[in-house]
Amino acid sequence: MKDNILEIENLHVRFNTFDGTFSAVNNVSLNLEYSESIGIIGESGCGKSTLAFTVMRYLASNAEVEGAIRFKGDNLLEKSEKDMETVRGNRIAWYSRTHTLLSTLLLPLVFSWMKWECTTRS
Ligand SMILES: Nc1ncnc2c1ncn2[C@@H]1O[C@H](COP(=O)(O)OP(=O)(O)OP(=O)(O)O)[C@@H](O)[C@H]1O
Ligand SMILES: [Mg+2]
Repeated sequence: MKDNILEIENLHVRFNTFDGTFSAVNNVSLNLEYSESIGIIGESGCGKSTLAFTVMRYLASNAEVEGAIRFKGDNLLEKSEKDMETVRGNRIAWYSRTHTLLSTLLLPLVFSWMKWECTTRS
């Protein structure tokens, strides 16, 4: 059996709007093995960011999610917000395409420094 780091199963994301329910992600399933990379390509508005935001559990309050997102076997959709805080930025990270090369190089240094400051002060 293959060892998957991420398994997305029958994922649906719907947004409740004043005009009704809008289905942004419709029945997506995928498996990602350890050390494997995946690229998601599609026209603007097809739901790429919504899919990635759902994995991070960064979703607008009008979102409804159905399905499973298993990271190392744990369903992220069943985790509490507090538990997700230990996953985000630690085990799964979000990288925005709007970051510049400078911020890409500096941000990890700034975060390491902040973590070091917090640890040494507490
Ligand atoms: N909170 C929300 N409420 C209602 N609709 C939303 C909400 N967030 C996103 N959408 C809609 O969901 C659809 C998918 O948006 P998404 O941002 O995931 O697309 P995308 O594939 O990342 O597009 P792009 O390539 O332009 O970044 C779009 O039609 C968008 O308007
Ligand atoms: Mg996008």
